[in-house]
Amino acid sequence: MSAQTSVKRITAPQITERKNGKPIVCLTAYDAPTANILDEFCDILLVGDSVGMVVHGFTTTVGVTLDMMILHGQAVMRGSQKALVVVDLPFGSYEDSVETAFRSASRVMMETGCNAVKIESGSYAAETISYLVERGIPVMSHVGLRPQSMNVLGGFRARGRRKVVEDEIIANAIAAANAGSFAVVVEGTSAEIAEKVTKSVKIPTIGIGASKKCDGQILVTPDMLGQFDRVPKFVKKFADMKGLVEGAVKDYAEQVGNRTFPAEENTYKFKHK
Ligand code: KIV
Repeated sequence: MSAQTSVKRITAPQITERKNGKPIVCLTAYDAPTANILDEFCDILLVGDSVGMVVHGFTTTVGVTLDMMILHGQAVMRGSQKALVVVDLPFGSYEDSVETAFRSASRVMMETGCNAVKIESGSYAAETISYLVERGIPVMSHVGLRPQSMNVLGGFRARGRRKVVEDEIIANAIAAANAGSFAVVVEGTSAEIAEKVTKSVKIPTIGIGASKKCDGQILVTPDMLGQFDRVPKFVKKFADMKGLVEGAVKDYAEQVGNRTFPAEENTYKFKHK
């Protein structure tokens, strides 16, 4: 066995043990080379269905299929060794029955080798979560702004301005935790709601646009790397990837244009006998 394959991945129970402990570092990943870079620094790599928007150019996550998630999940597993890899179950692959959810989740686990799945967790989700967990599939939940429901919610907006919505978010998180989720993503809420959820559940909360009052944080990697001009307001850009790529491609185009590329050292040399 190589040194590489002997590295142990972080497990779902180890993430749960981090409640109120060392903050949990999570990012999304969709391909092997990026996963390889993120792996050293992250506890969780999420193969999010945001792949539809940030990689495939969809306007929402609703069109993402199970086959797409499996393909990207396989790539992220190949590129990482240490982080817990969680794959999103996409819209339409788990909501109608526990049996459908198990079929989709077990396909994802078997065909990617990933460690857990994530489902967006409305009030209907508790039964599904316990069904999957009892059958050996660790589940991460997702409450607050649930992008797969954006057609019902009316867009990608922060959630919980009204008391009834705040109560619903907290209730969904408690139900998801009681059903056996190992962690819960809290997206697009106020600090007050994030804090209430964090205090109400025994599992770690992973915030995205939901303040520091969570047990960990997650961002969509291309957003935090500065790949896009427009990102959600709460995103801090930690790099300027768009600028970097533009600069490199501009240099390349200029050098091809003025015949300074390829130089001698970028050219194969053959010695024919
Ligand atoms: O799909 C995704 O990237 C997500 C994160 C926003 C948490 O669900």
